[in-house]
Amino acid sequence: PLRLDIKRRLTARSDRVKSVDLHPTEPWMLASLYNGSVCVWNHETQVRSSDSGLLIQDSMRSLVLFSDLWDWEKKWSCSQVFEGHTHYVMQIVINPKDNNQFASASLDRTIKVWQLGSSSPNFTLEGHEKGVNCIDYYSGGDKPYLISGADDRQVKIWDYQNKTCVQTLEGHAQNVSCVSFHPELPIIITGSEDGTVRIWHSSTYRLESTLNYGMERVWCVCGLRGSNNVALGYDEGSIIIKVGREEPAMSMDTNGKIIWAKHSEIQQANLKAMGDAEIKDGERLPLAVKDMGSCEIYPQTIQHNPNGRFVVVCGDGEYIIYTAMALRNKSFGSAQEFVWAHDSSEYAIRESNSIVKIFKNFKEKKSFKPDFGAEGIYGGFLLGVRSVNGLAFYDWENTELIRRIEIQPKHIFWSDSGELVCIATEESFFILRYLADKVAASQENNEGVTEDGIEDAFEVQGEIQEIVKTGLWVGDCFIYTSSVNRLNYYVGGEIVTIAHLDRTMYLLGYIPKDDRLYLGDKELNIVSYSLLVSVLEYQTAVMRRDFGMADKVLPTIPKEQRTRVAHFLEKQGFKQQALAVSTDPEHRFELALQLGELKIAYQLAVEAESEQKWKQLAELAISKCQFGLAQECLHHAQDYGGLLLLATASGNATMVGKLAEGAERDGKNNVAFMTYFLQGK
Ligand SMILES: *[C@@H]1O[C@H](CO)[C@@H](O)[C@H](O)[C@H]1NC(C)=O
Ligand SMILES: *[C@@H]1O[C@H](CO)[C@@H](O)[C@H](O)[C@H]1NC(C)=O
Ligand SMILES: *[C@@H]1O[C@H](CO)[C@@H](O)[C@H](O)[C@H]1NC(C)=O
Ligand SMILES: *[C@@H]1O[C@H](CO)[C@@H](O)[C@H](O)[C@H]1NC(C)=O
Ligand SMILES: *[C@@H]1O[C@H](CO)[C@@H](O)[C@H](O)[C@H]1NC(C)=O
Ligand SMILES: *[C@@H]1O[C@H](CO)[C@@H](O)[C@H](O)[C@H]1NC(C)=O
Repeated sequence: PLRLDIKRRLTARSDRVKSVDLHPTEPWMLASLYNGSVCVWNHETQVRSSDSGLLIQDSMRSLVLFSDLWDWEKKWSCSQVFEGHTHYVMQIVINPKDNNQFASASLDRTIKVWQLGSSSPNFTLEGHEKGVNCIDYYSGGDKPYLISGADDRQVKIWDYQNKTCVQTLEGHAQNVSCVSFHPELPIIITGSEDGTVRIWHSSTYRLESTLNYGMERVWCVCGLRGSNNVALGYDEGSIIIKVGREEPAMSMDTNGKIIWAKHSEIQQANLKAMGDAEIKDGERLPLAVKDMGSCEIYPQTIQHNPNGRFVVVCGDGEYIIYTAMALRNKSFGSAQEFVWAHDSSEYAIRESNSIVKIFKNFKEKKSFKPDFGAEGIYGGFLLGVRSVNGLAFYDWENTELIRRIEIQPKHIFWSDSGELVCIATEESFFILRYLADKVAASQENNEGVTEDGIEDAFEVQGEIQEIVKTGLWVGDCFIYTSSVNRLNYYVGGEIVTIAHLDRTMYLLGYIPKDDRLYLGDKELNIVSYSLLVSVLEYQTAVMRRDFGMADKVLPTIPKEQRTRVAHFLEKQGFKQQALAVSTDPEHRFELALQLGELKIAYQLAVEAESEQKWKQLAELAISKCQFGLAQECLHHAQDYGGLLLLATASGNATMVGKLAEGAERDGKNNVAFMTYFLQGK
């Protein structure tokens, strides 16, 4: 089965809907009603944007536009009449592969195929036992097919080249009113007066799902190329559903080779082949695409293994493992889910809701039944299994329980070192440290082991209230896209925003030598964003308290990035290092004050010539009993009040005398008066 997710996006109540259409670029649905009105709905804002005063002639059922049939020059005079049907014609459709050919469905129980320029039909397809209401051409290149729906409650698929019926789909309980080959997905959608919409697999003809939204009879259906939205028209209004995953099936290896599926075709693009073309952040990359062949299943996901030698394609409840280079199949089978282990030769499949199997070198190594069932599996350093009770991590080697955690994960991302893991849920994400040493110790002496596994296996580092869509680790930095289309990264409790994306994008990978992150969208466009590997390496070294490494990396960080790194150091509590790294005088002055570095602060105050800085420094100097320095600072700051306080408190008559003269000269009469008064002058 395809296991397509189906979600309702819009329900619009109205009079009976005669036809629906989706706008190719805007989030609009057009519905024409039997009462003669035309309505436009916006499925993002869920509001009816406008009603047109346009009245559609009530008896017209279907209208298609041929480029040359209606004579433009002659002001739309009718230029040709096609005769042959013996009852009403219900629908006509143009052959997408040959615009001079069209097909008609008629209540005379036949379908006729016509050629422009000839007023009699080219041929007739017979087989329905009652009137035919609807037809559609298959738009994919591989099959010369037509589909029809009739009052005999049947749907028929025809090969219009050898003029035979290839398949009859039975199941609708009333007249079939609309049929459609989806332009993108491998499905056939049919609607009937029985109130249901049925979705069938377009190659196996299996019924995938039956939808009943209780809006009475179904009259029309419309799918759109490049979109998962399908519009449906009913007696009581119209509905938009979203069918299938929006997330594209694509994967990138560590060398920048990207493999994706376009329908059933597998294609490859290589970042290296772009050469040295200048790349701007967020711009679509001009990639040359190579066809690699077609896949025997309809791919829903594609995933490279860690070393990039293999890719697994999953869909239709099956998986096929191919060599990444030549797309030769190495192994295949049925599975609900497939995940790679950290070790490139290992993987696991979820066979059912209770059985998980582990394979090594394409051979089954172990089959096991997790205690609380298996509703989902996650690859990486440990094998994650989700059940109604939460998440359980198992050792790939012996399937021993490492730790059970009460959480319902959506995604799990392990860092390369296996020391950090991100568990993302529907509301937030957690960063945990995996303590392999403690796990080994517990396994050795059997201490700290409960029925939930090893208590000290993980240590929580942080929880962030953001929804992670896709993510990956570079060192100890976790890079992710969020539900509000931010491209962020998390390191040591801090979140840095790399970019605000203008649409949903999916992270593909990071190439250190390009200093760039690569992302794809559902139309298979690839974009990139700059992210310096030196900064990530430096931050990783700091997180690991490896200052030797950090000092080695520092010279490779460009000057303009130093202050950002310094702020990171400061937040991690390494102020001394931050002072050494920062290039921003303001930041350095702040740090010098906090660290009590009078000399550095003095130097910065001299350079800045700012009264404010001199005052701050004077305060610090006083607190350190550096009265000489304090006095100088207060002079620079022209802080007579401060000087008076300092002079009187220290009982220095010379200073009071000097201050009196200075204050008088500068017109600070209150201070001048006070100082003369104190001296008895
Ligand atoms: C047709 O029905 C729609 C809603 O169902 C209504 O808004 C519109 O006014 C009606 N038009 C006519 C001409 O009755
Ligand atoms: C149908 O149309 C094609 C193309 O015009 C033509 O070659 C063929 O002879 C026609 N067949 C019939 C039965 O008219
Ligand atoms: C017509 O072509 C279809 C494949 O499209 C094939 O399954 C069918 O057997 C053919 N029928 C005849 C009569 O040749
Ligand atoms: C189905 O079509 C027949 C004509 O073939 C018509 O008499 C009947 O009323 C239709 N059924 C429904 C439920 O409208
Ligand atoms: C795998 O490849 C073999 C031979 O190349 C082919 O016969 C078989 O159908 C393929 N199986 C799948 C599932 O792709
Ligand atoms: C008193 O102040 C003067 C200058 O203002 C300074 O030169 C002298 O060292 C100070 N005396 C003492 C004891 O601090």
